[in-house]
Amino acid sequence: MIRRARNDDWDGVRALWREVDDLHARLAPAYFRSTSRAPREWTDLVAAPEAAIFVDEDGQSQGGTLIGFVSARIFETPPDPAMVPLRRGHVEMLVVARAHRRRGVGGRLMRQISDWALRQGAAELVLTVWAGNKAAEAFYEHLGYGELSRVLHTRLV
Ligand SMILES: CC(C)(COP(=O)(O)OP(=O)(O)OC[C@H]1O[C@@H](n2cnc3c(N)ncnc32)[C@H](O)[C@@H]1OP(=O)(O)O)[C@@H](O)C(=O)NCCC(=O)NCCS
Repeated sequence: MIRRARNDDWDGVRALWREVDDLHARLAPAYFRSTSRAPREWTDLVAAPEAAIFVDEDGQSQGGTLIGFVSARIFETPPDPAMVPLRRGHVEMLVVARAHRRRGVGGRLMRQISDWALRQGAAELVLTVWAGNKAAEAFYEHLGYGELSRVLHTRLV
C-alpha cells in the first residue's frame, strides 16, 4: 500500500535510509559516509511544504513493514534570463528494501511521485544517479529517463 509519509514512520524508514546512505558511501566515498540519521531530519522532511514523501507499506493493516520510500521537492528555474522557466520536481531519495526489489515497488513509487509532481504543476522530474549505481541506471532507463548532463571532477589533493 502506497501512502503519504508520516512522522511515526521513522522507525521503519531509518533502516531504508541507511541502505541508501551506505550505498552512496560505497559508490562515492569522497562525498558520502555511512551515518545514523536523526529523527528530526525525517520530521523536517515530512513537514517541508514544497516536498512530498510516499512510503510503501507491506501488509493491509496499519503498522505494516515499510519496504520503500521516495521523496521529491519542487524547484523553480533560477531567475536567469538564459534559462527557460520551467517548474521541476527533483527526486531526492528512492530506496526499496533489498529483499523486496525487482517486484515493481520502485516503479510504483515513481508513478506516485510523478503524479504528485504533475499536480504541483511540474513539467518534468529530474534526479541524480551516482556513477557505478548500475541497478538505478537500469531502473531509470526502464522507466524512460534520459541523460541531461554529466558532472565531471578531478581530485586536486
Ligand atoms: C533502484 C531501485 C529503487 C529499483 O527498485 P525496484 O523495486 O527493484 O524496481 P522495479 O522492480 O520497479 O524495477 C522495474 C524495472 O527496472 C529494471 N531494474 C530494476 N532493478 C534492476 C537491476 N538491479 N538490474 C537491472 N535492471 C533493473 C528492470 O527492467 C525492472 O523490471 P523487471 O524486474 O521486470 O526486469 C532499487 O534497486 C534500490 O532501492 N536501489 C538502492 C537505492 C538506489 O539506488 N536508489 C536510487 C538512487 S538514485
